[in-house]
Amino acid sequence: RHMPGEGRPIVLVGMMGSGKTAVGTALAERLDVPFRDTDEAIVAASRMSIAEIFERDGEAFFRAREREILNRLLDAGPGVVSTGGGIFLDQRNRDAIAARGVSVWLRASADLLWSRVKHRTTRPLLMTSDPRGTLERLLAERTPHYANAQVIVDAHASYSISDMVDHVIEA
Ligand code: S3P
Repeated sequence: RHMPGEGRPIVLVGMMGSGKTAVGTALAERLDVPFRDTDEAIVAASRMSIAEIFERDGEAFFRAREREILNRLLDAGPGVVSTGGGIFLDQRNRDAIAARGVSVWLRASADLLWSRVKHRTTRPLLMTSDPRGTLERLLAERTPHYANAQVIVDAHASYSISDMVDHVIEA
């Protein structure tokens, strides 16, 4: 059966901690297609960590690199692309993904996101005096953008990675 959007990369979007990398890796395995990750590609190309790039070159520089990498990955053929949490804020990125991929928002509550990111100190945007408040603010600001995704899949603390893969495939 021919599915709409077949052959296009599936692009996972959503907040830090929503499971894009974990679900994306498992989804790619299940579909037997390559897995790609924008953060990973940026780190590999610049030979610096995300935190170092933010610190040395600033967020604007990171966002420009991220946009370039996204475009490259969208042209790489069928596969699963996991993105950094900020990618869907840029209209140009949303348009590129809508034109050449299928976007899937992994929607999650602030409580679930926080439970997953609180022990990870590597995310530059959360290196503030009130990381939980920052996460909540980012979630509120970004939700209207993520809501433009073509497919929305709810994450929940009780769902395993494999459950999430089922839900993405069903959706
Ligand atoms: C960011 C999320 C990170 C990374 C960078 C900025 C964001 O990726 O791209 O730290 O703006 O939400 P993850 O969503 O994979 O944590």
